[in-house]
Amino acid sequence: MYVCLCKAVTDKAIRQQVEAGACSMRELKQNLGVGTQCGKCVCQASDILDAALSKQ
Ligand code: FES
Repeated sequence: MYVCLCKAVTDKAIRQQVEAGACSMRELKQNLGVGTQCGKCVCQASDILDAALSKQ
């Protein structure tokens, strides 16, 4: 599912970033561009990030 339509970032892409070592929205923004355009996806992306981190 797409989380960020502006940058075409999926929830899977966010989870893969966490598996690769990302642990903050800042890193996700740098690596994927998520949330860097309209910003509407930031809350949902952050929730997915938190969920993925808590499963580690
Ligand atoms: Fe992610 Fe617009 S939907 S920046």
